[in-house]
Amino acid sequence: GCSCRIGPSILNADLSDLASECKRLMDCGSDYLHLDVMDGHFVPNLTFGHPVVKCLRPKLPGVFMEMHMMVEKPETWVEHMADAGADMYTFHYEATPHPERCIRKIKEAGMKVGLGINPPTDVSVVLPYIDMVDLILVMTVNPGFGGQAFISECLPKVQFLRDRYRNLDIEVDGGVGPSTIQQCADNGANVIVSGSALIRHNNPREAIQFMRNTVDE
Ligand code: DX5
Ligand code: ZN
Repeated sequence: GCSCRIGPSILNADLSDLASECKRLMDCGSDYLHLDVMDGHFVPNLTFGHPVVKCLRPKLPGVFMEMHMMVEKPETWVEHMADAGADMYTFHYEATPHPERCIRKIKEAGMKVGLGINPPTDVSVVLPYIDMVDLILVMTVNPGFGGQAFISECLPKVQFLRDRYRNLDIEVDGGVGPSTIQQCADNGANVIVSGSALIRHNNPREAIQFMRNTVDE
């Protein structure tokens, strides 16, 4: 199957000390960073944008940075994020009437492409784009805040995709941690975002190892 990758979400970390928080979680065995960008329109919250990513980049050499763009008009920030040093640009199907145009733009900017869907969105909407993207993100909370409860009703969407695409990277995000990883793994998720469960864990290294073992077995 697909290899497991674990990416911490630093939304609930000490954002005044972002670089050290990211380093700490990378040193604990994470594979990449999942950076949550919110615009106050697509979701009712604000975080940070490309200027912060640009400052973070030199402090985290070689670290793969996925931008989770919870923004309207996601095509707007593609070049900015590429310039800032982002490796992957994951946007939401719900956020643009032209997903294909956005996908093309991201590729032209030299980044990998992720396409996400919110809990109420039917999985079938991503099918026309699967061959054009590197990853499908199935949200397991309604985006906007860290620390929300995992919505297990989203998992049939993961299973639907895994049944049809053995080698597709399928990411889950929202409420994922050691207590919910088993059901994510059972349904075929291989790219795992975990925020508050890792941030507040007293042994994040162990938690990451546990999640990796659960997905890989
Ligand atoms: C939700 C974000 C997630 C989330 C992860 O809006 O996209 O990345 O904050 O945090 P936890 O794991 O705490 O749900
Ligand atoms: Zn996210």
